Amino acid sequence: MILTEQIRERIRAEFPKYPDKRAVVLPALHIVHDELRSVPHAAIEEIAGLLEIHPAEIHDTMSFYQFFREEDRPLGKRRVWVCRSLSCALRGGEELLESLSHKWRVAPGGTTDDGRVSLEYAECLGACEGAPCVLVNDECHMNVSAEDVEQIVGE
Ligand code: FES
Repeated sequence: MILTEQIRERIRAEFPKYPDKRAVVLPALHIVHDELRSVPHAAIEEIAGLLEIHPAEIHDTMSFYQFFREEDRPLGKRRVWVCRSLSCALRGGEELLESLSHKWRVAPGGTTDDGRVSLEYAECLGACEGAPCVLVNDECHMNVSAEDVEQIVGE
């Protein structure tokens, strides 16, 4: 069993919020992804069991969103999304991504060898007034330099 009782409990706690269990696929994937830093195949089977649906439905959702990592490419402790849309690009977003990629020796989409950071590029984060901006896990940081991001990640 890959899902701990605590993870199962968090998933079950979502049930009353939705009209049926099938609607809990996405919240369940987020819970598992947050906890395990990926969604292993065994977890898909177990989520399917909890939601009483076929594992293929979980696979479909996962592949549609492209947000969730599979077990062969787990997330680092921190996931850093660097915006590369227009406002951020005009204010150094591309250079910021390049600088972080160089500093951490990881290409966008990858995770550092020590598992500390996963670097990603993002499309507009909805914070254009603070360009360039990044999302570190779920928190948006605006007007940042590579040094700022390094510091945020280290905290
Ligand atoms: S363009 Fe980067 S937040 Fe909008």
